[in-house]
Amino acid sequence: MTSEKLRLKVLEVVQETGDAHSIVFEKPEGVSYRPGQFLTLRLPHEDSWVARCYSLSSAPDVDPHLKVTVKRVVDGRGSNWVCDNVLAGHEIDVLAPSGTFTPKSLDTDYLLLAGGSGITPVMSIIRTSLARGSNKMLLVYANRDEQSVIFHKELRALVAEHPERLVVLHWLETVQGLPSLKPLQEIVRPWGHSEAFICGPAPFMDCAADALKGLGMSRDRIHIERFTSLAGDPWTEVVAELSSGGPTTDLVVTLDGETHELDWPQDQKLLDFLLEKGLDAPYSCREGACSACGVKLLEGEVDMEVNSVLEQDDLDEGWRLACQSRPSTDAVKVSYDD
Ligand SMILES: Cc1cc2nc3c(=O)[nH]c(=O)nc-3n(C[C@H](O)[C@H](O)[C@H](O)COP(=O)(O)OP(=O)(O)OC[C@H]3O[C@@H](n4cnc5c(N)ncnc54)[C@H](O)[C@@H]3O)c2cc1C
Ligand code: FES
Repeated sequence: MTSEKLRLKVLEVVQETGDAHSIVFEKPEGVSYRPGQFLTLRLPHEDSWVARCYSLSSAPDVDPHLKVTVKRVVDGRGSNWVCDNVLAGHEIDVLAPSGTFTPKSLDTDYLLLAGGSGITPVMSIIRTSLARGSNKMLLVYANRDEQSVIFHKELRALVAEHPERLVVLHWLETVQGLPSLKPLQEIVRPWGHSEAFICGPAPFMDCAADALKGLGMSRDRIHIERFTSLAGDPWTEVVAELSSGGPTTDLVVTLDGETHELDWPQDQKLLDFLLEKGLDAPYSCREGACSACGVKLLEGEVDMEVNSVLEQDDLDEGWRLACQSRPSTDAVKVSYDD
């Protein structure tokens, strides 16, 4: 759940398309994850390192190994290094699986909207659902052209195996142009009852989210994963912030089904405080960029120092980043379980 540091052995590298490679890692005993979660990889860059998150495209309980799928970004430091250099037998430092882009139930119908490399967490959700759940799913998968469709064959095989549960519609820019609101709305209209997961380039995600909101789907049924690069290095930086005393806030926090009442120093960030208290609060980047530490604010208010990932809709719904939040009221109630 937290950012445990692991060294993973590469078992295989698979070229998925001209610019996307999957890296298959040996799964150490005791490492578990939920579909839709990601690993953070430590990758060499010049004389230093960059930390990059990559969603697991493998399915927990189904695949014996861990797999991430990396698509090259023009002039990108981490993605090109992975695609150019990683070979079977290499070892890579990672932070344990993390993230909140994961389904709560595998029996709820899902509308999955993916663009390009945004298919990776979605693939894990599809394969886990087909193996363990009873839901129906529509995947709308947008790509530049047929050659850039990652997991093309695998998706076709899954549809052939589960025709009554999985429908896949490809949207190719070379054929249909860029995805746009009205046509997308017509495609997804019959799925208004479902829960939506959106992942891909920013314009695609904005269009998909607008299409769903326009159909009246409530924001709490729309889950969005934004692919950004981390600026810091979670391996080297001392990030924990201690309190220097002073006023406290009455904190009520629910985590893993247990509720705790604590005096939270107002000069300390929520995540630092909970970890200091020995609670297993989730996190990954600790720089406001990945949302692994997302927590629902139920009462009171907090100030976030950095927020590179939550949108106004998320904030309106009460989502906050624990790694960036200090209290701004005398009483705060939050939940990790909502
Ligand atoms: C939760 C999560 C899951 C993710 N999952 C995946 C996944 O499954 N697959 C995947 O492929 N990606 C995924 N990503 C995205 C991934 O983490 C990286 O952001 C992506 O690979 C680009 O990293 P990069 O180092 O190659 O590019 P960067 O070096 O970060 O560059 C990004 C862009 O910035 C420009 N740039 C480079 N250097 C500079 C500079 N010094 N100043 C200004 N601009 C610069 C580059 O030209 C490029 O256009 C995920 C991200 C998150 C947060
Ligand atoms: S741990 Fe990444 S945003 Fe807080």
